[in-house]
Amino acid sequence: MYFCKPILDMTHKTDWFTSWFDTPFYHILYKNRNDTEAQIFMQNITSFLQLNSNSHILDLACGKGRHSVFLNSLGYKVTGADLSENNINHANTFANKNLNFVEHDMRDLFEDKYDAVFNLFTSFGYFEDEQEDIKVLKNIKNSLKENGIAVIDFLNVIEVEKNLVSQEKKLIDGIHFKINRKIEKGFILKEIEFDFEGKKHAYFERVKYLDEEKFTLYLQKAGLKIKHIFGGYQLSEFDKENSKRLIFVVS
Ligand SMILES: C[S@@+](CC[C@H](N)C(=O)[O-])C[C@H]1O[C@@H](n2cnc3c(N)ncnc32)[C@H](O)[C@@H]1O
Repeated sequence: MYFCKPILDMTHKTDWFTSWFDTPFYHILYKNRNDTEAQIFMQNITSFLQLNSNSHILDLACGKGRHSVFLNSLGYKVTGADLSENNINHANTFANKNLNFVEHDMRDLFEDKYDAVFNLFTSFGYFEDEQEDIKVLKNIKNSLKENGIAVIDFLNVIEVEKNLVSQEKKLIDGIHFKINRKIEKGFILKEIEFDFEGKKHAYFERVKYLDEEKFTLYLQKAGLKIKHIFGGYQLSEFDKENSKRLIFVVS
């Protein structure tokens, strides 16, 4: 059963990212995202990193496993980890001896070490307290083998702010989604409302407004060193004003 979380109820004991990503509605709203682009990114980044074919990759906050499954098809051993039970149950239908999935909160330490840790498609900056975001980065550092490398694929907040569409309506699978976006108190906030089976539903997504400088500070606090910054899935150089993505390669 999915419950509907009041938009402004920050005191509810279930965090927004625990409820929203675990619903089928999240997957309906994002069903038209570009999976081909995601696969091209994985091809580009793995060849840039020159990852050995026997490398073990941790896909941290893997969702339903779209990157994990593709990386495994390229020959890598992959572990996908996500907080959402429904996502992991779905991802597990693709599991094989070199592809496994676990329910895991990224704020908790991993026991194993990996050749590479990937955090993809804006799976960062969700927490109220910045110490928790930094804890995630420390966990990433701690999960790396010696000479291991991590990739963090975040949005470019400057570009998002410049092109922010404050109101939008989308009809997907018969559901009329009403979306409001704003920048508020250091977060990019996206409010999502719709009716389903006679009931009103309201959720939100909230990602910390982290520009290159602020993110760099977080990385430093976690002891991670920047090797490269890309601005998109084709591995273009990062351009503060115009890049869609802010992709860090760190170790
Ligand atoms: C924007 S989605 C991206 C999913 C996946 N990387 C993709 O590209 O399809 C963010 C994911 O982060 C997961 N998530 C949110 N908070 C988490 C946490 N504290 N620990 C682990 N995963 C978390 C959600 O369940 C969701 O699957």
